[in-house]
Amino acid sequence: MNRVLLFFTFSAVCAGFWACQGDTPPVSTDSQGMTRETPSPTYTDVEPRQPRASAGNFENLIADFESNDRVIWQKPGMVISLLGDLEGKTVADIGAGSGYFTFRLVPRAKKVIGVDIDPRFINFMDSVKVRLPEQFRDRFESRLAKPDDPMLKPNEADAVIMVNTYGYIENRVKYLQTLSNGMSPGGVLLIIDFKKNSLPVGPDDEFKVALSQVERELKAGGFEISKTDNEALDYQYIVLAVKPKPSSQ
Ligand SMILES: C[S@@+](CC[C@H](N)C(=O)[O-])C[C@H]1O[C@@H](n2cnc3c(N)ncnc32)[C@H](O)[C@@H]1O
Repeated sequence: MNRVLLFFTFSAVCAGFWACQGDTPPVSTDSQGMTRETPSPTYTDVEPRQPRASAGNFENLIADFESNDRVIWQKPGMVISLLGDLEGKTVADIGAGSGYFTFRLVPRAKKVIGVDIDPRFINFMDSVKVRLPEQFRDRFESRLAKPDDPMLKPNEADAVIMVNTYGYIENRVKYLQTLSNGMSPGGVLLIIDFKKNSLPVGPDDEFKVALSQVERELKAGGFEISKTDNEALDYQYIVLAVKPKPSSQ
């Protein structure tokens, strides 16, 4: 990987981590204090009409996931707050990529598992891990998963976050059932993905999954939907679901 780009990307990921040490959202602005006018390249800019999130030039993907302006539209502090109090809990970030959410979650949870199917992202997250303050290092674990299995142990995760990844999963209802096995009863699943209609960020519309379809698939996969929000984020919808607890009878 290009050394200069690697340096800036490390800095961006670590800046996200440090910003999350406090409650202030990690806002990055340009030298003018303004949002950049030109959107950063997206992974579809790199590989047009390529449905696989992990396709394309790795450096560009990392730069895209960690772009300076993302914090403005992604609102990571607000997103993470939707998972509730994470103290003492294990969180899995499915499709973790560069660890944009993983490393922001580390200071808040007992353990955070950065799950991805692409070994390059696993290696990247591992290289960020060694730069975490020592007291946080053991809270992070990377996990190489399979396309049809997040490789969680039974009941392992109390909370799962999946950002900009849902549309890349095939046989999603079956996947959700497998994921559910790796979640504790009452555990929450937060799915955030791009809305349809040509947006300045994200994949082409044909690779996006409509909010209504996500809801249907979650129900078919055995989850209960506790919240949907199409407004809080400019480019993405939010779905919060729960793995039901077994009935007491
Ligand atoms: C668009 S990136 C999103 C990365 C990160 N969640 C973020 O918001 O910055 C999608 C990620 O999902 C991963 N991915 C794709 N299919 C997956 C699957 N079936 N299971 C786990 N990860 C997957 C890709 O390797 C990639 O890192």
